[in-house]
Amino acid sequence: MMAFIPLSEQRIRDELLKSAPPEHAYYFHILDEIDSTNRYLKDVMAKPEVQVCCAEQQSQGRGRFNRHWASPFGENIYLSCRYTLQLPAQNRSVLSLVVALAVLDSLKELLAPFDDLCIKWPNDLLWDDKKLCGILIEMVSEKDGFFDLVIGIGVNVNTDSKLNPLSDKACGSLFDITGNLFDRNTIIALMLRALNASINLLINTGFSSFQKRWENSDYLRNKFIHVTQMGKRIEGYGAGINQLGQLALMDEHGVMHYLSSGDTSLSHMRA
Ligand code: BTN
Repeated sequence: MMAFIPLSEQRIRDELLKSAPPEHAYYFHILDEIDSTNRYLKDVMAKPEVQVCCAEQQSQGRGRFNRHWASPFGENIYLSCRYTLQLPAQNRSVLSLVVALAVLDSLKELLAPFDDLCIKWPNDLLWDDKKLCGILIEMVSEKDGFFDLVIGIGVNVNTDSKLNPLSDKACGSLFDITGNLFDRNTIIALMLRALNASINLLINTGFSSFQKRWENSDYLRNKFIHVTQMGKRIEGYGAGINQLGQLALMDEHGVMHYLSSGDTSLSHMRA
């Protein structure tokens, strides 16, 4: 069995240099314990570099809709990146989908041949109906079209979730899938590289190049689902996304709804 490998800036930097030199300069904050890596990066001073924070443990890891994100010591990835980006209006709403696709790419590279991963709109990564990764993007400030934002990524890596369930919802880990333990530093470097490439592609060419890739990994397509949005429940079949990254949902009357936020769940089919 692989010995415990701590998080290490040097190991991440070495991995980043293995392919082309990184296009961004990075400033790393590697921490033993913190309440939340997103919260930490939101409160630090802005820097010209992309700031990256990873912790061995989070005491108050946060998810979307203010949910708790389980963050046991030394097992998984709790990663936040603070970027300043000049994003045209039409690209803002799709950023969280683009980040999910970038993480998907890096995990697929690692997991082949067990790479049957998919994305549940807007940005949960699933394998075998179990959640492996969640993403929380938070805005720090906006000025003259420049967005200072924190992208938080939690990946369940080495937890044996059959022995130590991470949540009362269905969750899995890379260990559950492969039976192998992973060096988290390698995965962090893979994700940083994929994030850069995807964000640059979004800025330079827009969302259209990502739409096809979304279709290939869309967990909700043709599934009967319900979405709760501001207390209102809408039911129907997942019908992909539009060019704004909104979820398309066909209801029982054949009317298409486009949703830009909300929490999706699979519904039981009506008899
Ligand atoms: C979700 O699925 O609801 C999003 C989960 C995001 C968790 C990550 S872990 C690193 C970063 N720090 C946090 O407190 N949250 C994000």
